[in-house]
Amino acid sequence: MATRQRPGDERDDGAGAPAPSSRFVTADVSLVDAREEVSTTVGAPAGAQSDADTAVVRRQPGETSAARAAPAAGGAPGSVDAGVGRFGLRLKFNAALIFTFAAGLGLATWLSDRMLRDNARQEVLQEARIMMESALSARAYTAEHVKPLLEGQLNERFLPETVSAYAATKIFLSLRSRFPDYTYKEASMDPRNPANRASDWEADLIGEFRNHRDRRELVVVRNTPTGQMLHLARPLVVSDKGCLSCHSTAERAPATMIEKYGATSAFGWQLDDVVAAQVVTVPMSVPLARAHDALTTFMVLLAGVFLLVLALLNVLLHFFVIKPVVRMAALATDVSMGRDGVADYVLRGHDEIASLSRSFHRMRVSLEKAMAMLDE
Ligand code: HEC
Repeated sequence: MATRQRPGDERDDGAGAPAPSSRFVTADVSLVDAREEVSTTVGAPAGAQSDADTAVVRRQPGETSAARAAPAAGGAPGSVDAGVGRFGLRLKFNAALIFTFAAGLGLATWLSDRMLRDNARQEVLQEARIMMESALSARAYTAEHVKPLLEGQLNERFLPETVSAYAATKIFLSLRSRFPDYTYKEASMDPRNPANRASDWEADLIGEFRNHRDRRELVVVRNTPTGQMLHLARPLVVSDKGCLSCHSTAERAPATMIEKYGATSAFGWQLDDVVAAQVVTVPMSVPLARAHDALTTFMVLLAGVFLLVLALLNVLLHFFVIKPVVRMAALATDVSMGRDGVADYVLRGHDEIASLSRSFHRMRVSLEKAMAMLDE
């Protein structure tokens, strides 16, 4: 049997009592401890223990339980919450959750923003590709169907409607009346039509296509005064000998065309030269604004769900953990100080707190039995 004794301690008569049942083994251990010191520390955070937090009941050998029942000096009755300072479970719990959520929200915002922007870009790029293909269709249609019909007119007057570059550009000009920020341009360093003169960055694109003949496409996003623009560029290569009738030398070119456009620009081309860049421009502001809206909605929803979960967890924490624990701590204090008429607190259920309340209750019963035996 466990009988721990401090040097100098004398055993009470009750201690060596008749062989106890298994239930009394517990009681007997409590008994020895109870003789030495009954110490209850309630919810004291490390280092923050005050006198009020600790109710210590020491028994001198021979002392009766009646004497013990008097509250010890420094023991503050019912001061259970005194030890639960500002850093209670609730605060720790909430701080950890809020920190995790803030970090999660930051990461989610960053990732979603990237994803949504990327989607917006893909969407705009797809639009630009469709525009580019329709420009190529307009070019092909003009070359195949319009030019042969009007070729006979070439000697009398020059009809630019027969020129693919002209047709494609004109068709997109009418599109601009409805979508002002959408443009199509056949940018050239030495254009026949001055409207096709390449700007600095377009000239760079042409240079890039000339230096890297395997490049089929370039995508550039630029910030302009009217917002962010996506430019899709493709090289225009002299792939047909027919082009050279108007673009090789002024002598070979139709006189009516020279009359209209002059004999200085857009000559000297050779087969396979990169002579221009087709540049389609699509504004990104609308899809980007949509992406921003989606991001905001998504984040507000996420924050809303989090606040709901946080509120629910706080309610659960209060009713299933904090409240019962505070009750049990108060009970343990009262019992340890030998107060009479302390109400039982036994929770039903199968969770850990209910199990703890039952254990507490068992311990209380054992302690009281042991005390009763001591007093006999
Ligand atoms: C019948 C003469 C003629 C033929 C053939 C011709 N072009 Fe042109 N090209 C022109 C004229 C005229 C313009 C200016 C049109 C305008 O006013 O926009 C032009 C403009 C262009 C432009 C726009 C840049 C600039 O100089 O203004 C490109 C690019 C171009 N042509 C490429 C070609 C290619 C490639 C071919 C062969 C598939 C070709 N052209 C065949 C007469 C011709």
